[in-house]
Amino acid sequence: MCGIVGILGSKPVAPQIVDALKRLEYRGYDSAGVATLERGELERRRAPGKLKFLEEKLELEPLSGFAGIGHTRWATHGAPNERNAHPHATERVAVVHNGIIENFRELKEELLDFGVNFQSDTDTEVVAQMVNRELDAGKTPELAVAAVLARLRGAFALVFLFKGEDDLMIGARRGSPLAVGYGDGEMFFGSDAIALAPFTDQISYLNDGDCAIVTRRGVKVRDCDGSGVAVSRPVQRSLANAAMIDKGNYRHFMAKEIAEQPEVVGHTLAHHLDMANMRARVPDGIDFATLDRLAISACGTAFYAGLVARYWFEKFARMPVDIDIASEFRYREPPLKEGGLAIMISQSGETADTLATLRHCREQGMQIASVCNVPTSTIARDSDAVLPTLAGPEIGVASTKAFTCQLATLAALAVAAGRARKVLTAEDEFRLVNALIEVPRLMTETLKLEPQIERLAKTFAHSRDALYLGRGTSYPIALEGALKLKEISYIHAEGYAAGELKHGPIALIDEDVPVVVVAPFDQLFEKTVSNMQEVQARGGKVVLITDAEGAIVAGETFETLIVPTSYAFVSPLIYAIPMQLLAYHTAVFMGTDVDQPRNLAKSVTVE
Ligand code: AGP
Repeated sequence: MCGIVGILGSKPVAPQIVDALKRLEYRGYDSAGVATLERGELERRRAPGKLKFLEEKLELEPLSGFAGIGHTRWATHGAPNERNAHPHATERVAVVHNGIIENFRELKEELLDFGVNFQSDTDTEVVAQMVNRELDAGKTPELAVAAVLARLRGAFALVFLFKGEDDLMIGARRGSPLAVGYGDGEMFFGSDAIALAPFTDQISYLNDGDCAIVTRRGVKVRDCDGSGVAVSRPVQRSLANAAMIDKGNYRHFMAKEIAEQPEVVGHTLAHHLDMANMRARVPDGIDFATLDRLAISACGTAFYAGLVARYWFEKFARMPVDIDIASEFRYREPPLKEGGLAIMISQSGETADTLATLRHCREQGMQIASVCNVPTSTIARDSDAVLPTLAGPEIGVASTKAFTCQLATLAALAVAAGRARKVLTAEDEFRLVNALIEVPRLMTETLKLEPQIERLAKTFAHSRDALYLGRGTSYPIALEGALKLKEISYIHAEGYAAGELKHGPIALIDEDVPVVVVAPFDQLFEKTVSNMQEVQARGGKVVLITDAEGAIVAGETFETLIVPTSYAFVSPLIYAIPMQLLAYHTAVFMGTDVDQPRNLAKSVTVE
């Protein structure tokens, strides 16, 4: 995940910026840079690799400006080298960016036609060049940024610095976090409060759609995605310090981690996709052309990510998948093919059942790939290939952002496999990669359902049982929704394939049993709606989660949650969010320990 810092200071800011960036190192990065105003002119120092290389460069060529921005970059568009490192700048504006600009290609084409020469492969430089063009057209910095924001699509955070404006920074938030820090005659931007802890504990967190115009006298926040009217964001005392992973302005880590998903899924996708060329990357050491089947194993939520991936590998790569929960896998003594590929999925990388299965597959002569959130973990270290999920530290016991990052990783891998096995054409790959690139923005839209879900959760809180139904890739999402609810609210909940309801579970239905139906408007929708109507005919309370078209076709329900329309391929990543929010708010209403539910551990290191 990239890190952003901005400072309007009362002394040279470059050393403070580097200090703040060090506090963001936990987010992961592969290059870094600083831009300051030196006698009104923009100057940059950037370096690939760790911050010490940037510090060496600043030793050799110091920056003395009192206004500056800095960035640690996790490569998205373009290799992790100096020319692609942030800040990106033109003669008049410098910018640092966290997230993905989905429509950067078309914007870049427009600028190339305008005669712009690009210095990098990044989507960020496109933003800098667009703002520069607006400034050249005579707009003020504030109006130039607003005009450009209106043209950007994607989930991102941006901070700008302008030539000749040493008492001005402008920041914008849409899907990736950005905070404003208040000092004594100084002002700050940061990706989170941890970065700003050495300077201030007075923090305002921007909301999606906000832009913030900052001078040393304070900040003016506007709703830049809507009317442009001034809005106010409360200043609060941050408890962040270097040691503590910060809850930010969230009541629980789980809430923060649900909200972080657009950002961390964006970074995970950027790692596994070559967005500049619309390709899915094949991990080093894995040759899908020589593989004819897959084994997948995991536990709990990670297992449900594997269940979704089975649909993707079988559909897009035509690879049969042998999948089972890790605690059962090896006891079936499945016939495993020497030289075949086994994929272990684990957030912690320490789950004993999964580790035991990894070792069993290794003994059978299989190649091991792991989808893992902790690259230094035992499972990662014991794997031939590691596919990282870039979720950042997941503190809540109930897995949320790691799950959607697992899905993002596996989706990219399935596309890469399909391409390598010549099942997918280049056009297919473009279409599927494009669908994935839209996910962070769609997740940001889906998170806006939270107030409606919070109200709905109050009716769930008194339920004895709950059922979750889905078909196709929505079936594992139904299983995950049931797990989320039971593990943090302690309400008994079961997930079923919607078509299975009439083979027994329908006996459970009465007016006290809420039934959550996960149903994107896809080719399975009609059958799922008929299952839903079986429930309604018996007085069951149906909560339908669908998109706008599905809501119209389905008609009357107890409650309908309308998520953004998406490609069927990526719907599991979108529909996971209402599952998480419903469980979270039900648990909060019931007063359970959301981050540390009874009897559970974050990593189960015993079999
Ligand atoms: C998920 O919400 C649960 N906490 C649990 O099922 C978890 O997914 C499972 O224990 C696997 O953990 P891992 O991903 O760290 O291997």
